[in-house]
Amino acid sequence: MLILGIESSCDETAVALVRDGREIVLSHVASQIDLHAPYGGIVPEVACRAHAEWLVPLIQNALKDADCELADVDVIAATSQPGLIGALLVGLSAGKALAWALDKPFVAVDHIDGHIHATRMEHPEMLFPHLSLVVSGGHTEVYRSPDSCTKELITSTMDDAAGECFDKVAALLGLPYPGGPQIQKLAEQGDPTAVDFPRGKPGDDGMALSFSGLKTAVLYHLKREGFAQKAGRPRLEFTGKQAPQGVLADVAASFQECAVDMLIRVALAASKSTGIKHLGLTGGVACNSRLREKLAQACAQHGVTLYACPPKLCTDNAAFIAGAAHAFAQAGRFSPLDTEAVPN
Ligand code: KG4
Ligand code: ZN
Repeated sequence: MLILGIESSCDETAVALVRDGREIVLSHVASQIDLHAPYGGIVPEVACRAHAEWLVPLIQNALKDADCELADVDVIAATSQPGLIGALLVGLSAGKALAWALDKPFVAVDHIDGHIHATRMEHPEMLFPHLSLVVSGGHTEVYRSPDSCTKELITSTMDDAAGECFDKVAALLGLPYPGGPQIQKLAEQGDPTAVDFPRGKPGDDGMALSFSGLKTAVLYHLKREGFAQKAGRPRLEFTGKQAPQGVLADVAASFQECAVDMLIRVALAASKSTGIKHLGLTGGVACNSRLREKLAQACAQHGVTLYACPPKLCTDNAAFIAGAAHAFAQAGRFSPLDTEAVPN
């Protein structure tokens, strides 16, 4: 079964062709990072316009590169939720229009199902039920999956997503958007024990999670180190007498260590509370090498088998949309052509 997947929920315009759920024939991602970088974050209107301009040529190029025609495609799939409403509408409308014009079945895919399924594409040996730690720019959640078409929310951040926190702290440190990879790089030169940032209260079940306090703690720490807040970018400037040698790298490393520890704590608490010992790690922040390394160690110590999504499938793409759609198509769960985009 050949599935054409379309993803446009946020700032990546993506198209993929996936055969039988796992064989990625082709996966094209047109990143909008350069368009949004000057603003320090995603501008919804800019994202929406870029999707509208780029999507059709991207589909045409994908088919050409795969030496394939629309007639060869068995199922059309597109992300329908959650995301930026204008951005979602571009990909979803294109997917539904193609399905209607070609008289092919259509599958509307929840973006989170895509992230969760991405791990399964690389690790088909991950048994059900399993947990997934989904850590991205918009989501930080743990889900329980009893089968390939169902997810149940176990816990979620009360405020900011982990990736959003990486991006905001990076902005404070004067690093470009997206901040996660930049913090990881800077952290390599810093001491993760230099600053003991607060890891928040775990709550009775150990699964409470909040990132807004951590972001504020970083801000206050930098102010104490002689930085002053200002409008524009970078958000902080040094006003003290001595150049802040090593301070920023130590802050990056200590912040990253704190965020990683909080994610590990919640993942292990979810495993303990559900009794499930199979854990998938996915989403853009799952590219973070410190998280991958430290979570793998923690899981090994607690008898949990960790299945880390490969970095190329962690960040947004359309291969995981087509992959998830395959599971739904196999279960006969197709979507009507009046399926609406749901932003939240
Ligand atoms: O999954 P994704 O591509 O988009 C959403 O669905 O949100 O995730 C993007 C997020 C951004 O916040 C980015 O800073 C973060 O993933 N990210 C990282 C790393 N690579 C990407 N965060 C920490 N360390 C990384 N290496
Ligand atoms: Zn995503």
